[in-house]
Amino acid sequence: MTAQPVLKTDLMQTRKVKPCLVSSELNRELNKELTSELDKELSKELKKSTQSKFSKAAEHYNTHANVQKHAASDLFKLIKPGFNKNKVCVDLGAGPLVNTHTLQSMFSSVVAIDLSLNMLQSSDLTTAKICADMDNLPLQANSVDVIYSNFAVQWSANFSALMQSLYSILKPGGQAYISTVVEGSLNEIKTAFAALDSNSHINTFNSELYINQSVQNTGFTINSAKKRIYTDEYTTPLKAIASIKAIGATTQNHTNTRQGLLTKSALKKVCSAYPLINNKACVSYHVVLLSLEKH
Ligand SMILES: C[S@@+](CC[C@H](N)C(=O)[O-])C[C@H]1O[C@@H](n2cnc3c(N)ncnc32)[C@H](O)[C@@H]1O
Repeated sequence: MTAQPVLKTDLMQTRKVKPCLVSSELNRELNKELTSELDKELSKELKKSTQSKFSKAAEHYNTHANVQKHAASDLFKLIKPGFNKNKVCVDLGAGPLVNTHTLQSMFSSVVAIDLSLNMLQSSDLTTAKICADMDNLPLQANSVDVIYSNFAVQWSANFSALMQSLYSILKPGGQAYISTVVEGSLNEIKTAFAALDSNSHINTFNSELYINQSVQNTGFTINSAKKRIYTDEYTTPLKAIASIKAIGATTQNHTNTRQGLLTKSALKKVCSAYPLINNKACVSYHVVLLSLEKH
């Protein structure tokens, strides 16, 4: 790790650390800074990988995103009816603008934001589009009336920080409608891969409790917070496993991942261990749907 000596020198100079303190205190400081540097690097790599996988999936996303459509529809039902016509709405993690058209029928102006340019470009819909990272949004404080985000914020590197940023971007009285994938999701895939090795083969998802606490800590009023389980059914385990790839969601947000492609025999083992229900291979998503308000 080439950064180590530089950090060490910097710390010594800026904090005028006495030599006798170097071994314990400084080591702790160094470890903290290195861990944070590594986290940043890892986060950058994960972002690149997420962007690239969603970009590759953009063209066919719409045909495979069944569960996402159900969640989007449930999220629309939470939107407060009323004087929405003069309002600015952000569709965060908009993907190929699958929900933007409906949002345009509700709000006078819709800004679609996504990390993947391909996703944004794959729709002909005319609307403002911004290719940006939700963890570093280029939006001013108190500038947006409504945030709608379906099946996207689980990709944030820091959900709590994202909630703070969304709170700041919203105008007083602003609303946020958010669905996010939580712990318990893709358990069938997890069970099947457990027959192969002890590595994790799926994303790590935040718990429902963490989501609710983060939102509360931000200061949002929670008008509604519901958990739903959405399930897709496939005729074979192989199709179930492939469904994750088809929507671009195969980047894993942790380090305990298995590298490389599966051999034929490994894949066979995974498929035989896939739990079937009535001869169907299910893929379930545990999703929290939130209706939030800034005061
Ligand atoms: C599962 S798709 C959801 C798309 C759409 N909202 C829907 O309801 O079908 C998730 C989207 O989040 C986007 N995304 C992932 N990480 C992101 C980030 N850090 N910032 C902005 N968008 C991100 C992906 O590119 C992808 O288009």
